[in-house]
Amino acid sequence: MLRELAARIDEVRTRWEEESGRVSSLEELEEVRIRYLGRKGLLTGLFAVLRELPPAERAEAGRLLNELREEVQRGIERLRAELEAAAEAERLRREAYDLTLPGIWRGVGKLHPLTQVRLEIERIFMEMGFDVATGPEVETDYYNFEALNIPPDHPARDEWDSFYIDEGLLLRTHTSPVQIRVMKSRKPPVRVICPGRCYRRDTPDATHFPVFHQVELLWVERGLTMAHLKWIIEEFVRQFFGPGYEMRFSADFFPFTEPSAQVHIRREGGPWLEIMGAGMVDPAVFREVGYDPEEVTGFAFGLGIERMAMLKYGIDDIRLFFQNDVRFLGQF
Ligand code: DAH
Repeated sequence: MLRELAARIDEVRTRWEEESGRVSSLEELEEVRIRYLGRKGLLTGLFAVLRELPPAERAEAGRLLNELREEVQRGIERLRAELEAAAEAERLRREAYDLTLPGIWRGVGKLHPLTQVRLEIERIFMEMGFDVATGPEVETDYYNFEALNIPPDHPARDEWDSFYIDEGLLLRTHTSPVQIRVMKSRKPPVRVICPGRCYRRDTPDATHFPVFHQVELLWVERGLTMAHLKWIIEEFVRQFFGPGYEMRFSADFFPFTEPSAQVHIRREGGPWLEIMGAGMVDPAVFREVGYDPEEVTGFAFGLGIERMAMLKYGIDDIRLFFQNDVRFLGQF
């Protein structure tokens, strides 16, 4: 009887070894466990046989049976550990980030150099107490010319050849018309800057482009003189450029200022570049906007933003600002 049971134990062991060797998932492992150790399992069946053996043989048979049971239990634990480790490794592999892959560069935008320069100019003048005012780019002949003391057929108009929309309607050739709009809507004292886009029928070259930007400045009050104007410009140039630049102030003519001046700047050793026209506001302009030229005086200038940027960054061609080449724009 014992021998018979021992033979069945060996059979079950052989079968176990074969079946457990084929297990490839936790689900299969559970099926195998139930088949051997479950309530109706193969080993459980053998333990039932054990109880039918004569008492003298039970101890030895029990030892053999327990040995097999422990073998099966250890085998199941080992397989479970292996399968769980494999599943975990697979999960990690699927979820892992490859930190060595090059990232996807979304690109960070920046402000156009002309915008940066405009904001810097606005900052400097706002700190000096100037407001920022704006006006339309499509302007009337009256604001762009007549109110600025440039009557129809005046030869000075040749300097500001515009693009005409209609009879009496044009793309403004400078920001000076905003001076008129501001003075007509406010009483003195007035202290404003007016940044904006302007248009001229200029043939593009290294320093001219049909679209460009200016900042107009206007200060009207009692007792202002050319000395104040010169100081403002010098202080502004010093703050904007810092050391290493030279400034030249010389006489000029504009119908809306008397006297008039122009300002040139150069980097030490570089070529002079005209950056602005300026002057004391002409009494005819004050009368036009309803200010009394016996009461107030004032000064104004019109500054080219592109030229300020060219001097500051050492750019030698104005056309670069309008080509929208990110290799150029990204440098500022
Ligand atoms: N508007 C002039 C131009 O575009 C520049 C200018 C000159 C503006 C004298 C002024 C000024 O305000 O006072 O050429």
